[in-house]
Amino acid sequence: MQFFDKENPIGVFDSGIGGLTVVKRLNQCMPNENIVYFGDTARVPYGNKSNTTVIEYATEDAQFLLQKNVKIIVVACNTASSVALNHLQEKFEIPIIGMIEPGARRALEVSKSGKIGVIGTYATINNKAYSKKIKELDSNVQVFEKACPLFVPLAEEGLIKHPATKLIAEEYLSGLKEAGIDTLILGCTHYPILAETISEIMGEGVTLVDSGEAASREVRKYLEGRGLKNDSNSIGGNKFYVSDIQTKFEEIAELFLGKKLDFFDKVDLEELFRK
Ligand code: DGL
Repeated sequence: MQFFDKENPIGVFDSGIGGLTVVKRLNQCMPNENIVYFGDTARVPYGNKSNTTVIEYATEDAQFLLQKNVKIIVVACNTASSVALNHLQEKFEIPIIGMIEPGARRALEVSKSGKIGVIGTYATINNKAYSKKIKELDSNVQVFEKACPLFVPLAEEGLIKHPATKLIAEEYLSGLKEAGIDTLILGCTHYPILAETISEIMGEGVTLVDSGEAASREVRKYLEGRGLKNDSNSIGGNKFYVSDIQTKFEEIAELFLGKKLDFFDKVDLEELFRK
């Protein structure tokens, strides 16, 4: 079957451009893999939409990637991972890896006190995706969750060290600080952009967990374990497809990816799936 070919690209999707923080990690972890990315920039954000809508959108995003002959799909969106991962895994035959389980496992590895914090969108936090997974893996830990919706626009505006970001972060994170957590999961693709400010507020005793980094390692392990790792000696390429080219698209995308985009194009999902 086509997606079992190791030369095929890794497919990655997100509600928008936040998933580029995950692509950055995938590139670092597996530099010779090719990546096809789909960002649903026309319909972002997913984080405040209903589960039904997120499942519908995530299914179309995965269908787009399947048309690109990917060998595995990475759901580089915590909201879609929280809400739609089981549905996608049941519907499609291809291996699909989300953000939640890798992030939860990593947090359990690093936490010494057993007090873990999670920040994410309303959808991720309200669905208790991380706390359910963490408790399934270890019922003795305590999990404290907080939705931080304003972090998404602040990251997209590039207000990384701005006083407004600091003020909002202090407000959002005060409860988690009081709870005495020693580990904090950045449960949203945008939050690694604000990691320095978050870390400053939480203090040295709190380790931040980047779910995208944890998921990248899991993807590599999965591909290696099944003989699907691309063993070419050359550096892989990234192709980015989006459903809308929003204002300042390239600027924001480069901030999230940490480098220039090699290739990007706009696709019309309506045309592909709704005709
Ligand atoms: N990518 C989303 C996430 O990781 C954040 C943006 C959105 O709400 O769609 O949860």
